[in-house]
Amino acid sequence: MTDIDPWGDVEIADYSATMEGFGIEPIGPLADRLPDNRLVRRGIVFGQRDLETVLDARDRGDPFAVMTGLMPSGVFHFGHLAVVEQVRMFQEMGAEVTLCAADIEAYATRDVSLEDARELVVEEYLLNYVAAGLDLDRTDFYFQSGAGNDHLARSKLFSRYITENEFEATYGATSPGKISSALTQYADILRPQAPENGGPKPTVVPVGIDQDPHVRLTRDVASRYRETAYVKPASTYHRFMRGLQGGKMSSSDPASYIALTDTVEDAKRKIDAAKTGGRASVEEHREKGGTVEDDMVFELLAFHLVRDDDELERIRRKYESGAMLSGELKQIAKERLETFLRDHQEKREAARPDVERYLAEHGFGEAT
Ligand code: TRP
Repeated sequence: MTDIDPWGDVEIADYSATMEGFGIEPIGPLADRLPDNRLVRRGIVFGQRDLETVLDARDRGDPFAVMTGLMPSGVFHFGHLAVVEQVRMFQEMGAEVTLCAADIEAYATRDVSLEDARELVVEEYLLNYVAAGLDLDRTDFYFQSGAGNDHLARSKLFSRYITENEFEATYGATSPGKISSALTQYADILRPQAPENGGPKPTVVPVGIDQDPHVRLTRDVASRYRETAYVKPASTYHRFMRGLQGGKMSSSDPASYIALTDTVEDAKRKIDAAKTGGRASVEEHREKGGTVEDDMVFELLAFHLVRDDDELERIRRKYESGAMLSGELKQIAKERLETFLRDHQEKREAARPDVERYLAEHGFGEAT
């Protein structure tokens, strides 16, 4: 199994092989213990580690937590929505929510200044999270650079529990910036269980599979650390949405994604330019039908724009039978996108005063 580099370009060719190679379990068997959720139903959220610990705590009425983080290095796009939706799902199930803005990581590994990171966190991260339904007043949100002395001390203490070999076997080539970011991330993931946050409790971390190396080593740290007890963190994993032109969706290539702040016109233009699974000619398409697996427009519909399963199935059948052309599929996507973006962008602006109030109340003033 090839390594996953959480700071590199991760493309997963075969999700089952990756799951097997790293010991990730399917989420399907636990689906009926979760609220009904489109992403789980459609196999977009596909994997988990130890999710039972969280579900059992919920069933017993014990405290449990959801925690995730995001590196402020680019705009917020449709590829980021799966994590937000999961955070919201666990929040609605009763989880305590912790959200980390990884500004130290962005500074150390992506050349982003702390000031720019702060601005990205507010504009691209918090506003979109709240617009997507996160309840910020029930969220422990923090910047890594302001995580507090205990948190940052733990991130250093943890260094004793991972060997150089483990580090290299997990991450491949590292650098001081990556090592320090990794250690900070272990403290992030364990933060809901810190003494000042009520001590050990089952915690689930929804992440892209690119972050799994951090999850694995945090689980090792959790079981080895001597000073306080930790429950090994659980995790869930979602499939990466592919880029609009096929290949990887990448923050450095605006044509590959639709940002939640794109104008409707820009978004429609990107749909027009997207790779489809349509045939070379109308005649051929009518005869053989389109291929949804190779169609990035269908992928956007399936991930986010068509919420109703029956409707998605009808579109799939029409497209695969050749009755629906790629242009017609794009037309559906453009209409849905327009509604989605207008609604989201309205909610974003409505969230602004709340986000600003939250930041002021919690003393997030100027950058370090
Ligand atoms: N490394 C993550 C990223 O690249 C950001 C992150 C920091 C994070 N701390 C975390 C993710 C804790 C999950 C949990 O986006």
